[in-house]
Amino acid sequence: MKLRIPASSANLGPGFDCFGLAWQLYNEIEFEFSDELRVEGCDPRFANAENLAFQAVRRTAEAAGKACPAVAIRFVKTDIPVSRGLGSSAALIAGGVKAADALLKLHMSDDALLRVATEIEGHPDNVAPALFGGLTVSAAEGDTVLTRRFPLHERFHFVLLSPDFELSTAAARGVLPPSYPRADAVYNLSRTPLVLRALQDGDSELLRFAMRDKIHQPYRRSLIPGYDKVEALALASGACGFGISGAGSTQLAIFPDERAAQRFAASAGARFPAWRIQSARPDLTGTVIQ
Ligand code: HSE
Repeated sequence: MKLRIPASSANLGPGFDCFGLAWQLYNEIEFEFSDELRVEGCDPRFANAENLAFQAVRRTAEAAGKACPAVAIRFVKTDIPVSRGLGSSAALIAGGVKAADALLKLHMSDDALLRVATEIEGHPDNVAPALFGGLTVSAAEGDTVLTRRFPLHERFHFVLLSPDFELSTAAARGVLPPSYPRADAVYNLSRTPLVLRALQDGDSELLRFAMRDKIHQPYRRSLIPGYDKVEALALASGACGFGISGAGSTQLAIFPDERAAQRFAASAGARFPAWRIQSARPDLTGTVIQ
């Protein structure tokens, strides 16, 4: 069977480790029963039993009390760049849990699939939109993982800017402090619901005010050469939101009008010719079996 799984951006400014948004930018992966484990069509670094798609099959089978099946996993399309903050790991995990559920006829609930996927990934912010699509807010406590989708106004235009270098999530988390001043917590707390409301209402002024952050971006921006220039260019081009996609290195710019988004993408492309700069539309379907 072939599955199509979307890329996703976590955080969206202040929603560190809880917000996620799926994109119409996909990996397609085939999973079949096989006589032995095979992983084909991906970077040779990942063509082994450590591959997260296989690990997700194994963990899902175990969670349902079944033996792990031998599977052949074939990457048919890999449009989600690796280690760029676009949920490539989450996409493998979402694909693996959905494939195991379907191949082994487990009929697991969405909550159960999300729980297994979150256990593997460590946090639910990318796996939730990868599984279910749309704009999601997720929370985990012990064995409980909850996610809900929020509405997204159609007026916004999104540009993803993926640099020509990887940034590991571990490195990007490693620069964060162990604790924060109360004022910084309040800064983010007060903005997270306002980002949701702005995205729901198409309120670009509110988004411009609310999509700021004191939890992760101030510490991570120096890991992304070019970040300051791209942010300045985006804001000067009329962006109503700008930030790091997940842990980076991709950056996300949000515009209230399409022509401004296109102009910005063209100027950023001229400035950073080696980067992959693309307009992106939200995905509302999540992982689907094709
Ligand atoms: N919320 C996570 C982070 C996303 O920013 O570190 C990457 O997995």
